[in-house]
Amino acid sequence: MKLLVIGSGGREHALVWKLSQSPRVTSILCAPGNAGTAQLAVNHAVAATDLDGLVALAENEKVDLTLVGPDDPLAAGLVDRFRAAGLRVFGPTASAARLEASKSFAKDFMVRHGIPSAGSATFTDADKALSHCASARYPLVVKADGLALGKGVVIAQTPEESSKAVREAMIEKVFGSAGDTVVIEEFLTGPECSIHALVDGNSYSLFPDAKDHKRALEGDRGLNTGGMGTISPSREVDAAMQSRIRTEILDPFLRGLKTDALEFSGMLFPGLMMTPEGPKVLEFNCRFGDPETQSLMRRLKGDLLDLIEATVDGKLSSVAPEWDDRAAVCIVLASGGYPGPIEKGKEITGLAEAAASSPDVVVFHAGTSLKDDKVVTSGGRVLGVTALGATLEEARAKAYAAADLIRFEGKQLRRDIGASVI
Ligand code: AMP
Ligand code: GLY
Repeated sequence: MKLLVIGSGGREHALVWKLSQSPRVTSILCAPGNAGTAQLAVNHAVAATDLDGLVALAENEKVDLTLVGPDDPLAAGLVDRFRAAGLRVFGPTASAARLEASKSFAKDFMVRHGIPSAGSATFTDADKALSHCASARYPLVVKADGLALGKGVVIAQTPEESSKAVREAMIEKVFGSAGDTVVIEEFLTGPECSIHALVDGNSYSLFPDAKDHKRALEGDRGLNTGGMGTISPSREVDAAMQSRIRTEILDPFLRGLKTDALEFSGMLFPGLMMTPEGPKVLEFNCRFGDPETQSLMRRLKGDLLDLIEATVDGKLSSVAPEWDDRAAVCIVLASGGYPGPIEKGKEITGLAEAAASSPDVVVFHAGTSLKDDKVVTSGGRVLGVTALGATLEEARAKAYAAADLIRFEGKQLRRDIGASVI
């Protein structure tokens, strides 16, 4: 079977790495891919948001099945376009991907179907939002409704801060139309946890939990990023919690899809806060997490293609994925300055040494490209160094030892991935 994977991050390299192990896969194309996917797939210089180009690529190359990594092509209707062209594709349609692309749509869905989340109010009028800010309890969370590259959420401590966030989103339009509507919600407390479940509309397959580290600096300080590292399992989810996640979140989610006639097929990735009252949904993502996928793919035994096909064909209830009991860690190596402006084109050395440091280590590429046969940096998050270990401590030790063998100018990483759990 010939596959196409869309995207260029560490998530996509991890998916390509896992899919390439399937005996049923004959070749993989990646669009646009990175220097890591180039080792296992053929990269094509078509952007993940170029829907016409991607349809043409899949048709010309006679691709059998396409997987979409990032959120924006899903929100833009890539799956609808592929289906209309008679192409087989994994992922939700644009109307179902609104669960990620519109926070107010997701809120309405959760309220209608009794899925626990923070109490909230939605505003399309800036003056009404500002008067809400003046009378609310603090801290308060202000969220731009649409996709804002992870920058659309502000945790405000004072009415001045929340009003500033409202003005920036709704009046100054710093996120464009993504800020036409804002959701203002109550501040929740507790550890966060990333849940992944394949959903085919009739059933779901729950993956092991993972934990991301979103802030740029150690001790959860600094700016929010796409994610600086993950562990799986997170130790937030024991058997009792897993059962609550099923009955309080995933079961009502599935019932809600049916009631609302929403056709959802693909990966559901709810970000949860484990509050004193129980798990609550912070957001729905309708795709694999990055860098959660890097840790999860290290723990998946068996064939990812079987799971993807079962999802596309509505046969998830017939598959039972097996998971490695060992712990997985992913340490992100980022460019200096990330998540702010960065310099690209820095040569990366030590990749082979890192990969050879232990059979339990795999280095996934993210923002990398090839220049004159050398691997150079080309993005904010550059690499995801993953390791498996009998314990989280062991996995961390191997991952950090490998990460230390890799060098590029400006390299930054957090030394405390998973530390809070130990
Ligand atoms: P989101 O993009 O909605 O997941 O929000 C990004 C981050 O903001 C989350 O990972 C949380 O750390 C934080 N956050 C979002 N909503 C809330 C909330 N209601 N209470 C506390 N923190 C939140
Ligand atoms: N790691 C968080 C995300 O993929 O949104």
